[in-house]
Amino acid sequence: MAKILDGRKISKEIRADIIERVDRMKEEKGIVPGLAVVIVGDDEASHVYVSMKAKACKSVGFHSEEHKLPESTTQEELLNLIDHLNNDDKINGILVQLPLPKHMDENLVNSHISPQKDVDGFHAVNMGNLTLGEESYVPCTPKGIIELIKRTGTDMAGKNAVVVGRSNIVGKPAAILLLKESCTTTICHSKTKNMELFLKEADIVVAAAGVPNLIKGHMIKEGAIVIDAGTRKLDGKLVGDVEFDSAKEVASWITPVPGGVGPMTITMLLENTLEATEKLWN
Ligand code: GUN
Repeated sequence: MAKILDGRKISKEIRADIIERVDRMKEEKGIVPGLAVVIVGDDEASHVYVSMKAKACKSVGFHSEEHKLPESTTQEELLNLIDHLNNDDKINGILVQLPLPKHMDENLVNSHISPQKDVDGFHAVNMGNLTLGEESYVPCTPKGIIELIKRTGTDMAGKNAVVVGRSNIVGKPAAILLLKESCTTTICHSKTKNMELFLKEADIVVAAAGVPNLIKGHMIKEGAIVIDAGTRKLDGKLVGDVEFDSAKEVASWITPVPGGVGPMTITMLLENTLEATEKLWN
């Protein structure tokens, strides 16, 4: 039976450290880290995520701003707001919630954010530096995933890691980070033939496909570490990409949904924002 990787508990520990660093920064330098979150349109799940991010900011003593724009916003208007936030000294981190409406170019919008304020790590410069192994902001969900794997105490070097999903937000950067930890890393995706073949060899599975219950216990290797970054509502219940009940019988460690990767994503956003503030003022 797998041990549970409790993202809520680990997040709480990391957030306690963040609160201390924020208090010290306020006391010694009179600086308050600031995060601006921008959301365009009415996607219900995105609005829930954004309010969770704003709430988390307040809980650690950050200045937090939510900019809610209607679906009809033009890309130029959004770029103008980003210009304004890039030049606002109260704001150290800027996040544009994805997905954006179809009439907008996500890569172009993300790369309009100042790379120094790009706490999501989606700017082409940060993505490029991440790939090159240079210093960069690391996208929050993949960063949280690596932190969770580290908390198992496993030496990742030489382990077979399989990432399921190739999104720019999770799959692709997660694979780069696992490679950086010297895992033998494979990315499976919707066109992969016989995914089970790869999963059966995986010591570490990162599921980020957005397909509820795609990965079942019989598909994974005995003793694997299973990290589930999927979250979808199914019959009114939040479920991940991994069928939890069957997978927990086979895995050595497993993240629950909710309460695994989700809280870590928000905590890594707080960490990146604090880092952006420290870099600017140290
Ligand atoms: N949509 C889903 N996950 C994320 C994320 O980590 N950052 C942003 N900006 N949008 C998202």
